[in-house]
Amino acid sequence: MRYLLKPLKRYLSKNRLYHSIRTMETAVRLSRELSIDTEKVKIASLAHDIAREIETEKMIALASKKFDIENWEKSYPLLLHGKAGAVLVAELFSVNDVDILEAIAWHTTGKPGMSDVAKIVFIADYIEPGRDHLDGDLTERLLNRSLDEKLLIVVKERMDYNRKRGNPVTKLSQKLYEELRRGVDTVEA
Ligand SMILES: [Fe+2]
Ligand SMILES: [Fe+2]
Repeated sequence: MRYLLKPLKRYLSKNRLYHSIRTMETAVRLSRELSIDTEKVKIASLAHDIAREIETEKMIALASKKFDIENWEKSYPLLLHGKAGAVLVAELFSVNDVDILEAIAWHTTGKPGMSDVAKIVFIADYIEPGRDHLDGDLTERLLNRSLDEKLLIVVKERMDYNRKRGNPVTKLSQKLYEELRRGVDTVEA
């Protein structure tokens, strides 16, 4: 991971670099628990926020290279840092693995039909131990759950958290939530 760490230091403040490292550690732990290969997970989770501190205009320009950006998204440029990050990682490190790029692109909103790698990164980003919204209750509810059960719990938590803070809840998050609700009947969420 050294080849990633050095450039990441150029793009991220110390605090966000530490968040990225904790997200990777959490993602690796989850992958092992769920018997999912850790290699792609490591790269995607460590690099997921690479575009988070890029200025708005540049972020929109980067994301637009590979994604159709709707007008409303430009009003919430922070939502675009996933898509911009996927483009940046592909350019900087010649990564063309779909699972890795998808995990980075959609870690902000999630979307229906995500790969296991993307699911893990989405969960780890929200529950890494430095997050101040974490409480023992959430940690306990996630114990001994399948990947989709954990994801359902986290997606619901994240949507509620965003609503409370007046942040937008995207249609994609809503669709992911509905998809998971149809597939998972063992979780109260
Ligand atoms: Fe992020
Ligand atoms: Fe993050």
